[in-house]
Amino acid sequence: MVNDRNILLCVSGGIAAYKACALTSKLVQAGANVRVAMTQSAEQFVGKATFQALSRNPVYTDVFKEHDPTKIAHIDIPDASDLIVVAPATANMIAKLANGIADDFITTSILAATCPVIVSPAMNVNMLDHPATRRNIETLKSFGYQIIEPGVGNLACGWIGGGRLPEPEDLLRIIESQFVPKHLLGKRVLVTAGPTVERIDPVRFLSNDSSGKMGVALAEAARDMGADVTLVHGPLQIPVPAGVTAIPVESSADMLETMLARFDAQHLVIKSAAVADYRPKTVHAEKHKKVHGPLTIELEETTDILKTLGMRKTTQTLVGFAAETEHLETHARAKLEKKRVDYLVANDVSTPGVGFGADENEVTLFRADGSSTRLPRQTKRQLAIELLTHFKEGIQ
Ligand code: CTP
Repeated sequence: MVNDRNILLCVSGGIAAYKACALTSKLVQAGANVRVAMTQSAEQFVGKATFQALSRNPVYTDVFKEHDPTKIAHIDIPDASDLIVVAPATANMIAKLANGIADDFITTSILAATCPVIVSPAMNVNMLDHPATRRNIETLKSFGYQIIEPGVGNLACGWIGGGRLPEPEDLLRIIESQFVPKHLLGKRVLVTAGPTVERIDPVRFLSNDSSGKMGVALAEAARDMGADVTLVHGPLQIPVPAGVTAIPVESSADMLETMLARFDAQHLVIKSAAVADYRPKTVHAEKHKKVHGPLTIELEETTDILKTLGMRKTTQTLVGFAAETEHLETHARAKLEKKRVDYLVANDVSTPGVGFGADENEVTLFRADGSSTRLPRQTKRQLAIELLTHFKEGIQ
């Protein structure tokens, strides 16, 4: 997503400047061309040499120190940038940007910039909550700058509250999302993720190994593409993405009811949850006591949610998933037809390193018209964007 993108990272003088080093490294690893600009105060916290080594580019600290006399860097660099990120943005930096002050490399560059600007404030909680800072942040929003809400937690000054710079990997995801094409603007997307939990008694249940990573990646990618996203999920091993309406459910019956209540209003519905096919016929109200000898639990079939939605669909584009260990194509095509879905994403879960719990996946996308596309191994985040790019073709 950030591959070959030109990013100007502006570092102002707060203790969180150290996190900008890790962010530079992550951006470079992801293929971005990173130029770092620093204020004099930032140099009190982190050396210029660190950013130069991490970015493998000159670091800009002074408007009058031109690395190339044929160019004016504070105009040239923002002109060539696809995105400017100010992280950390101190109260002073935010105040200067809000008032159009241009007295150093960063402020002059941003005043001259026409590309999108992301500002990530980091400071003491009281400085952040001061009406002057709040007003200045609102002014930056009115310029169209994206403000990253600071995290809440232990601050370097000893206070506990808002003002933390997000972790570098979270900043990277926000930066990456800038470059995701907005193919799903104005669309409503409903995604299911994770396992379902079928109760035996108050302390025991039947479930499966699904981590929910693929469904969460799809919800996140749909959000980044501009959709209004609802995520109906069982217990997840990863956090629910911000900016997504999350509805936690437990059993397949809860999931069915939740889906039916929302299905009609959607443009795209993706059923990536690993729904239990069976549940205990009797759910004990009290903890089941141990009895000597073998115990048999009678199971009954759950309702096939995907098939139920397939029968009900009118204009919605419906996507199912299939985790197979053999005869992938035959099983996938049979499910596609039986459940009346538009797309079926099939993966061979016997392949090492992909599927349940993994960060990567490789799948084949089968379409109702008989065609199919093989999507090679990649991160679930990249795969989610690719899949949604295919699904958008089918949206009415
Ligand atoms: N699914 C569902 N409701 C169920 C079972 C499955 O909605 N009760 C959905 C899953 O969310 C997935 C698709 O159906 O999108 C395929 O799930 P899978 O378990 O692979 O298929 P099954 O029809 O259960 O077939 P089998 O387990 O025999 O492979």
